[in-house]
Amino acid sequence: MRVLGIETSCDETGVAIYATDGGLLAHALYSQIELHARYGGVVPELASRDHIRKLSPLIQEVIDESGVESIDGVAYTAGPGLVGALLVGALTGRCLAWSRGVPAMAVHHMEGHLLAPMLEPDPPGFPFIALLVSGGHCLLVEVTGVGRYRVLGESIDDAVGEAFDKTAKLMGLPYPGGPALAQLARQGNPERFTFPRPMTDRPGLDFSFSGLKTFALNTWRASAQDDQARADIARAFEEAVVDTMAIKCRRAVRQTGIRQLIIAGGVGANQRLRARLGDLMDEENGHICYPRPEFCTDNGAMIAYAGWQRLRAGQSAPLSVSVTPRWSLEDLEPVEHA
Ligand code: KG4
Ligand code: ZN
Repeated sequence: MRVLGIETSCDETGVAIYATDGGLLAHALYSQIELHARYGGVVPELASRDHIRKLSPLIQEVIDESGVESIDGVAYTAGPGLVGALLVGALTGRCLAWSRGVPAMAVHHMEGHLLAPMLEPDPPGFPFIALLVSGGHCLLVEVTGVGRYRVLGESIDDAVGEAFDKTAKLMGLPYPGGPALAQLARQGNPERFTFPRPMTDRPGLDFSFSGLKTFALNTWRASAQDDQARADIARAFEEAVVDTMAIKCRRAVRQTGIRQLIIAGGVGANQRLRARLGDLMDEENGHICYPRPEFCTDNGAMIAYAGWQRLRAGQSAPLSVSVTPRWSLEDLEPVEHA
């Protein structure tokens, strides 16, 4: 079975083909970052229009690159995300499937992220704990199979990528500031500032990041606002986020007894987070997996893979097109053969 996957939930247009024989045959990505950078964040209407402009050429590109003559199913991201952006992918995907007489599947964006490590040569087996850290989400999930998800904890306010981006912005870094902040942190002095580790002094697995962002703002205002202060704040902020994640992940491992952790979502590209959680899982005699950095951020490959898992189990979406901008992972139907 060959499945074409389409991702348009936010500011990246991603397309890929995943096949039972051969795995990932082709993938292509177009990022709208430059389009939104001048506004300091994603402008939803501009995002939708740019997806319309880019999606068909990208589909053509992956079909040509893969060399396949036909596809057996189409998967598209149906949520969570920006409603207009989601509709572009959903309508295109649903119509393409209808015109070819093949089934379509509406995929949950975060299921795509949490299954992305399956695209790597040494994929994790079930069960595992997934730390999903992106611009829109921050979740700890117990994963016992495809579609079998229990949310152990989540952010009660900002997502972690959002906190990275806002902290970067308040110090004058361009959007999206996460990677730039992480880069700056390398030159920062870890001894100069100490930021709080939010919600670690009480039991539970929920997160909160809006206080850290305010702490960063106050520290920045009280500083000389020069390059050294920027780097030192970036370092202290990153240390606090990474430490908080490590404390919660250790709790989740001990609470569930599951000794396998995967990190996915854009912030999963953060090197310090990967290193710290790697050490943690060594200490816990466990194992850690993550997708390659390009599959941590939004992409079509993870959607093609998640859609393939569901389509091959006989699931499909109706002919009517609908998207779900707010959608819980716990509402997904389990996949029986997995
Ligand atoms: O998963 P993703 O591409 O999009 C969403 O679904 O949100 O994640 C994007 C987020 C942005 O907030 C970006 O700043 C953050 O991931 N990010 C990073 C790094 N690379 C991307 N944050 C910290 N360190 C990084 N290296
Ligand atoms: Zn994402």
